[in-house]
Amino acid sequence: MAVKRIITEPNKILRQISKPVEEVGMYEQSLMNDMLDTMYDANGIGLAAIQIGIPKRIIVMDISWNKGEKKPMFFVNPVIKKNNKQKSIYEEGCLSVPNQFAEIERPSKCEVDYLNYKGKKKTLKAEGLLATCIQHEMDHLEGILFIDYLSKLKKSMIIKKLLKNRPDRIVV
Ligand code: NI
Repeated sequence: MAVKRIITEPNKILRQISKPVEEVGMYEQSLMNDMLDTMYDANGIGLAAIQIGIPKRIIVMDISWNKGEKKPMFFVNPVIKKNNKQKSIYEEGCLSVPNQFAEIERPSKCEVDYLNYKGKKKTLKAEGLLATCIQHEMDHLEGILFIDYLSKLKKSMIIKKLLKNRPDRIVV
């Protein structure tokens, strides 16, 4: 288990389309463990593998750990089977877009097929925060960030702020 560095926008890696996992084996499980450590360490509730630079269709989430008990969820090769027309709006943030938040509208419910930590086929019926979170994470697998839903102006303002606040920026 290890905490990895989270890649932040702007970075082309985040725009890659992640590849399906052929089999959930020891490598994938140890990757999921590292992703979970990284997510908890960064105080996040969801993380996609591409955010630590690995273009595989793997997501970890735990939407309630900051309220007490840890209940990690693992999604390999998730596919949205159904989503409803009704929308809901949440203020979203992203570990790859640090300290920036915006209200984003998404389908309020969805049904997702996926493989779990052990590689077993599962279906999740999600609504509320869980539905928003899984959709946000699944966007990462397509190279999409929540700021892509904002106006050009808002998005470019956020990117400017991110560039200004980069901790690894060196001025000589
Ligand atoms: Ni994100």
